[in-house]
Amino acid sequence: MQLVKWAHDLTESLLADSLPQRWAHSQRVYSQALTLAPALGDDAELLAAAAIAHDVGYAQAAVETGQHMIDGARYLRDVAGADSRLCSIVAFHTSSSWEASELGLDGALGEFEPAEPELVDAITYCDLTSTPTGDLADPAERLSEVLERYGPEHVVFRAVSAARPELMARVTRVQRRRAEAVYATFN
Ligand SMILES: [Fe+2]
Repeated sequence: MQLVKWAHDLTESLLADSLPQRWAHSQRVYSQALTLAPALGDDAELLAAAAIAHDVGYAQAAVETGQHMIDGARYLRDVAGADSRLCSIVAFHTSSSWEASELGLDGALGEFEPAEPELVDAITYCDLTSTPTGDLADPAERLSEVLERYGPEHVVFRAVSAARPELMARVTRVQRRRAEAVYATFN
């Protein structure tokens, strides 16, 4: 769990004091990642580390483009020297591709190798089942809350509206894989 501790301590130092709600959210996303461990095998530790660090792009020290997935991945790559697969999961989490397109940042996102689809599904599930303050969330309600919070003029609203069907499909795939993994351990 060395990678997880490293990611935890780094994220805590970036978010805990200045953005305590974001830190609480990150901790919930991490605990949700732990619930997926049986379905992820060898990648469980990588996903857990990416989960705790996924929102470091909101930290003052990381903000560059304003697209927090890209900023977080760049910070992890350039400042923290993180593993490239971890950077990719952070770069592509949740609605990142749609937000990058809206902002004309496809090239910046393209600095990162696409993360494996199973890991993108998993980080998206963890993010969407965690509220902005760190409680458990229903994914459909969480997406509605995001749309309400930003409003139709905002880039996040447009990106999440376009992404919603795929984001919900990711959640469904993760729930199915987790159920299959649990079934396999008892049979
Ligand atoms: Fe998040």
